[in-house]
Amino acid sequence: MNPKNLRIVCFMCNWVFCDEKESPVSQESQILFDANIVRVMCIGRVDPIIILETFEKGADGVLLIGCTPPDCHFIEGNLYAERSVVLLKKLLALAGLDPERLELRWSSPNEETSFDQILTDFAVQMQKVGVSPLSGESPNEQVLLNVLAAKNAAANFRLRVLAGRERELTENTNVYGEKISQEEFNALTDEVVKAEVIRQKIHILTRQKPLSVKDLAAIIQMKPHSVLRHIVDMRRKGMIGLDRVEGTTPLYKALEAQ
Ligand code: FES
Repeated sequence: MNPKNLRIVCFMCNWVFCDEKESPVSQESQILFDANIVRVMCIGRVDPIIILETFEKGADGVLLIGCTPPDCHFIEGNLYAERSVVLLKKLLALAGLDPERLELRWSSPNEETSFDQILTDFAVQMQKVGVSPLSGESPNEQVLLNVLAAKNAAANFRLRVLAGRERELTENTNVYGEKISQEEFNALTDEVVKAEVIRQKIHILTRQKPLSVKDLAAIIQMKPHSVLRHIVDMRRKGMIGLDRVEGTTPLYKALEAQ
């Protein structure tokens, strides 16, 4: 594969590599890959939805560079980004995109590694992972559906609250004097993220046209009884409703208010 085919988007905090603002990438590296550099005021300001959208548009890799903790001009923006990346890697894996396509790196004023080196290291990592199934003229439709569902899941309030409370839940005891271990927290997040992505997929598909449990099971490659379980839950949450019954088969359609 010609590494020049790789499309990398780098979101970089405004306070790192300040002296390289004008020409951050050497000409040598520019020959190796296409990189778009986006400066942000703090790496914590990059919304997870923007990162998923970047993959949706066909980027092969997304690199985030923020200030080395504990330094951050916005107190904990870098730590917020770190927690978001954990969640995003789970979403990417569920979407069928290698989580290695996303990387978070720290930098500080006395950093010895140059920006060019960080970018080149990431490009080398990307060469092993390969071109994204969403790049080019005909993106993989199943992966595209998964990424759209992941994007909707990332917007979900419950997921954001869960990601934001990791430290609180794993470091402090609750009202019953219990503390959640990191393993328990990870297992809980995995379960919630997976369920949310499936529900969002069902929502996207039934927004296009009313579908039965059997139709949905075939498209998202799940057992019908598992799909039905999610539909029951989605009906309870007001995400989906009954459109009509054909013969004995109920067809469901998405409801807009979630
Ligand atoms: Fe640099 Fe927050 S200001 S990561």
